Amino acid sequence: MASCRNRSYFINLRVILLLLIHNCRLHAAVLTYDGCMSDSANSYKVGGWCFLVYSNSSMTTKTLTQAGAQTVCGPMGNLAVGVTYKMLEKYKTQYLSASVKMAWLPLVRNASSGWAWKTLMPRGNYAVFPAIMANIPSAANEMNDGGVENAAVAYYSMGISDLENDLSIYASTPIAVICQFAPLLWKYLQRGHGLFKVPAYLIAQANVTRAGCFRQCHRSPFCISMAFNPTTNDCQTYGVSPEDPRFSGNVTANSAYDWHIRDGMEY
Ligand SMILES: *[C@@H]1O[C@H](CO)[C@@H](O)[C@H](O)[C@H]1NC(C)=O
Ligand SMILES: *[C@@H]1O[C@H](CO)[C@@H](O)[C@H](O)[C@H]1NC(C)=O
Ligand SMILES: *[C@@H]1O[C@H](CO)[C@@H](O)[C@H](O)[C@H]1NC(C)=O
Ligand SMILES: *[C@@H]1O[C@H](CO)[C@@H](O)[C@H](O)[C@H]1NC(C)=O
Repeated sequence: MASCRNRSYFINLRVILLLLIHNCRLHAAVLTYDGCMSDSANSYKVGGWCFLVYSNSSMTTKTLTQAGAQTVCGPMGNLAVGVTYKMLEKYKTQYLSASVKMAWLPLVRNASSGWAWKTLMPRGNYAVFPAIMANIPSAANEMNDGGVENAAVAYYSMGISDLENDLSIYASTPIAVICQFAPLLWKYLQRGHGLFKVPAYLIAQANVTRAGCFRQCHRSPFCISMAFNPTTNDCQTYGVSPEDPRFSGNVTANSAYDWHIRDGMEY
């Protein structure tokens, strides 16, 4: 009896291992930074990140909630946050189509504090940043429905739209996710001097070395730029860039702060 049980245990274990290896192969090819970089038809590169529109035949409005979408891009990536208006606008006309019209975004609405980006990171924590609405290409009359529409998607030809976080009440239709993958190495060129004094743009502020400031920006899926003061070691990381015409009007001139901006940004 005992040896029988042991053998079936080993057989089961082998089946599980084979399934795991099989699944890893299926996903490893796509849902990594390298997989994203090599899938040019479905990926968009900006600021060093690679963004991938991913869907498969089992992902529909009946099977994938926004909460479920949070784990699809893991463990190497996260559900993509909107790093610029231009980046989010791409999905209106590119990558999504008449056959896959929607892609989940990690935008959540809180009745009292408004919209925020909240994305599950590879380390298992959620990264959260209040949404800057000027940076979101909302579909006409969307993002303001209130009530139960506390989640959002990128919608083909329309823009960013608010919806319920569980769409299973609707007919079954394919849905995608947009994954965000960070490279191992990054460059932050030093460009001029100044800082932002708009609290909504600030991700974090700390007293650290310049290298520590780069690391802080590097770890954040939101960080586009930073201002560093080498005399006081004040490091401020921002969700917008002083070179983005939407926000450059709010730059405060200050020769004590060095701007660093992610290479490869587009606005
Ligand atoms: C499709 O994506 C879902 C959601 O991540 C995943 O659970 C499933 O294994 C995928 N199916 C295939 C065939 O890749
Ligand atoms: C909504 O935001 C308020 C104020 O920031 C906070 O106290 C509350 O916990 C939030 N609610 C949820 C469900 O996140
Ligand atoms: C940085 O250090 C200064 C001077 O010690 C202090 O006043 C400030 O609060 C510190 N800032 C942060 C974000 O810790
Ligand atoms: C500066 O920031 C404020 C607050 O976010 C915003 O209302 C204003 O439009 C911004 N001005 C410019 C020129 O970007």
